[in-house]
Amino acid sequence: MGVMYRKHLLSVFQFNKHQVLQYIKRAMEIKRDGPSRMFPTKTVISMFFEPSTRTSCSFQAAAIRLGCRTIAITDKISSAEKGESLEDTVKTLQYYGDAIVLRHPEKGSSRKAAGVSAIPIINAGDGNGEHPTQALLDIFTIYEEMRKRNIDLMDGNREPITVAMVGDLKNSRTVHSLVHLLAMFPKIRILYIAPPSLEIPEEIMGQVGNTNDEVQQITGLSLFEAIGETDVLYMTRIQKERFENVRDYYAITLSHGFLNYCITPELLERAKGSAMIMHPLPRSTELPSWVDADPRAVYFKQVENGVYMRMAILEGVFSEP
Ligand code: NCD
Repeated sequence: MGVMYRKHLLSVFQFNKHQVLQYIKRAMEIKRDGPSRMFPTKTVISMFFEPSTRTSCSFQAAAIRLGCRTIAITDKISSAEKGESLEDTVKTLQYYGDAIVLRHPEKGSSRKAAGVSAIPIINAGDGNGEHPTQALLDIFTIYEEMRKRNIDLMDGNREPITVAMVGDLKNSRTVHSLVHLLAMFPKIRILYIAPPSLEIPEEIMGQVGNTNDEVQQITGLSLFEAIGETDVLYMTRIQKERFENVRDYYAITLSHGFLNYCITPELLERAKGSAMIMHPLPRSTELPSWVDADPRAVYFKQVENGVYMRMAILEGVFSEP
């Protein structure tokens, strides 16, 4: 049966390894067999106050496949445009549905919403904070792809797995959440490769180290140096909307050195044949579209798996304890 989780889903720090494995198992079952339960009396409200294609639509697709009804609201069409507070919007929407999937530009916003909501809040990205449901679909994809390569993520006796996180590690909430889940597994090496000023926050590295003191976290390598030993290449977009001054964004992405944080033919030639190339999408110049034809590219598998994982998440939210 599903993962029992009737509370808010705000942060990966709520999960233990057992729960993460249950989510992976349940998403795999749903992918193979389809849903086993329908929730026709439930209404899922998606409240997206920042642009989104995948997270917003995959949650709606997941809700529809579970027989739920959906209501979608954005900042542009809501009274937020008239200055209504997040809290007041949530206090209102709680009477219209059974769960709120919330994306908001402010870090900590989903926690704030949870403080006033009688129905579960699911964090679908809070500024440069966290993106726990993306992290779950990412770890599911890593688990599944490793299995295809006859590698068990769980196995403490296997060779170490090297994950290179590349790009805007300061602002990528998908990375902030995923590294915490990765640290739950044995023999993980995380390489952080970011342009100057967009490095991984010390706070995140500290938290990951607290989860598992055996996880190796390495900074200071170039992507070109690291690629030959990388098993999972996790690319990210430079988050233009997080810059206070957009000129700083262009100074990074238009500089010659930025190519060191992008995929190039020379780079992929040095990569392992068994490597997997991930990206939460949307992409920018760091991941050219010619990479799609490379068998190591798995980012559209992440997109597909996102629906199954979100079905597992909604099922958990709506299942009786
Ligand atoms: C990411 C996000 O919104 O955090 N996208 C996603 O949810 N799949 C990454 C990004 O915007 O670059």
